[in-house]
Amino acid sequence: MKQIRNFCVIAHIDHGKSTLSDRLLQTTQTITERQLKEQTLDDMDLERERGITIKSHAVQMNYKHTDGEEYIFNLIDTPGHVDFSYEVSRSIAACEGALLIVDATQGIQAQTISNLFLALEHDLEIIPVLNKIDMPSAMVEKVAGQVIDLIGCSEEEILLASGKTGEGVPEILSAIVDRIPAPKGDPKEPLQALVFDSIFNPFRGVIANIRILNGTLKKGDKVRFIATGAEYSADEIGVLKLDYHPTKKLATGDVGYIITGIKRSSEIKVGDTLTLVEDPGVAIQGFEEVKPMVYAGIFPLDNDDFEDLRESLEKLQLNDASLVFEPESSAALGFGFRCGFLGMLHLEIIQERLAREFNQDVITTVPNVSYYAYTKRNPDERLDVRNPTELPEPTVLDKVQEPYISAQIITDTEYIGGIMNLCIEKRGILKKQYYLSPERVELSFELPLAEIVFDFYDRLKSISRGYASFDYQPLDYRESDLVKLDIKLNGENVDALSALVHRTKAESFGRKICKKLKELLPRQQFMIAIQAAIGAKIIARESLSALRKDVTAKCYGGDITRKRKLLEKQKAGKKKMRQFGKIEVPQKAFLDVLKLD
Ligand code: GTP
Repeated sequence: MKQIRNFCVIAHIDHGKSTLSDRLLQTTQTITERQLKEQTLDDMDLERERGITIKSHAVQMNYKHTDGEEYIFNLIDTPGHVDFSYEVSRSIAACEGALLIVDATQGIQAQTISNLFLALEHDLEIIPVLNKIDMPSAMVEKVAGQVIDLIGCSEEEILLASGKTGEGVPEILSAIVDRIPAPKGDPKEPLQALVFDSIFNPFRGVIANIRILNGTLKKGDKVRFIATGAEYSADEIGVLKLDYHPTKKLATGDVGYIITGIKRSSEIKVGDTLTLVEDPGVAIQGFEEVKPMVYAGIFPLDNDDFEDLRESLEKLQLNDASLVFEPESSAALGFGFRCGFLGMLHLEIIQERLAREFNQDVITTVPNVSYYAYTKRNPDERLDVRNPTELPEPTVLDKVQEPYISAQIITDTEYIGGIMNLCIEKRGILKKQYYLSPERVELSFELPLAEIVFDFYDRLKSISRGYASFDYQPLDYRESDLVKLDIKLNGENVDALSALVHRTKAESFGRKICKKLKELLPRQQFMIAIQAAIGAKIIARESLSALRKDVTAKCYGGDITRKRKLLEKQKAGKKKMRQFGKIEVPQKAFLDVLKLD
């Protein structure tokens, strides 16, 4: 155990975790020059294209220290986006130390702090690293000052590095040995292993990544996952190099994987404890079921594709246990699924994977958070409302509660005014204003989750010209004066566009949606009345005038091929349309309708 170091790399998004991890792998010769591609650990196409880490990755390296001793390093790369912070917290719980990467051109940002706090909560040894020092815009002294203020370390403890040139990497490796403690734990205790990640492999089933805290796990052992209670046999165990290396046993302090023949990701919960059936240990603290933060309906473009869509979602769920879905039906869209996501990025990823990996064209309805509703009939009964259409009628509705979050925004002081206005407009309550330095300030707000999941982040970025960073944690549910806003097209309710909004904002929101729909809907042969209503009361209206009948004839009169081409194009376009009565609504309109500003 003395020769093992388990550590993770934490940072704000884009501060260079994955790039620096590549350099560590290269310098320790875990991968050869030829195997190295940019962001080696991000193995999903989507991760590479977008340059983001969606899943955690673990990898083992061998390192020969300057003192001549050989060490085993287990590195866990973590996703930076707030949607995946539960995964980060579990990865952190599997380590004794963390490299805290701070981009020297950017300085400390919101997730630098939130991830640092997560690491400190687990008593991790922190090695601060200023990255990207090769860049001319690096502000080494200034950012080092921020780090010193934040974690109270000395200047000498901060390492300077560049993931691009490899500068400073040998010093990081040596600091990992010198500063991060070796794992503790007792090999004679009953087995206690933390599941910090799980991956679905189409041939092998679910592979769980584990960290042994106490005891020993041997190939063939009968094992139990404490939270789910399920029992299996350890068919294969091993360590994680760039691929899987089977071993006969995993001992206290080791990081590795286990294959048990489980076929569905949902049977393994990240954060669960693995133990032996014969000599069971106790559960590791901190296990939580991940709960979706955002819900949206996903419907096939063509109702005949419903079963295909179910199959695709099931397959996606195999390797993404945080995706939840159940069938739902909509008067407007027919049969589909109500899906729960960790956040808007997660929703986008699922939508993109459905299109890319399963060739499924879908309509996604206006996303919403989940509310609690209470009725006058039975005040003790709490209804979980995940779809605005499920909200009880106003006559029986007693009250509605909505989820609140605690949000931290870090910004340069010059943008405080704009950001305050934005947060107040979003019904935020300022809780704290803390100056990290004369130019940088941390603002803490309590905000309704519904107000931030959609366009908040984009607006924050544009107000602060990209200089503000943002992070949040769920807080509680609070009573709010919410109303259901319906959208009608020629008098017909389009339930997929219904939304729950705060009463004070209903009118302006309704007006904006109507205006936006007017832009998004193609003109048809007849006039369309677009209305927003609360119950029977119409609060906003726009009308889309009819298409002049002779348009095609006039423009293309006589030219048969061009006319035919146009008709073909229209036909192709129609596939992406949805019919409401006589009205055609483009598939994109359902999501784009929310891009109001
Ligand atoms: P997420 O996985 O999305 O959280 O990002 P990350 O923290 O892993 O950052 P990543 O390694 O993807 O780097 C972000 C961008 O910064 C990429 O375009 C890198 O090429 C660039 N980059 C990373 N490290 C350095 C560095 O030391 N110097 C320079 N010049 N660019 C760097």
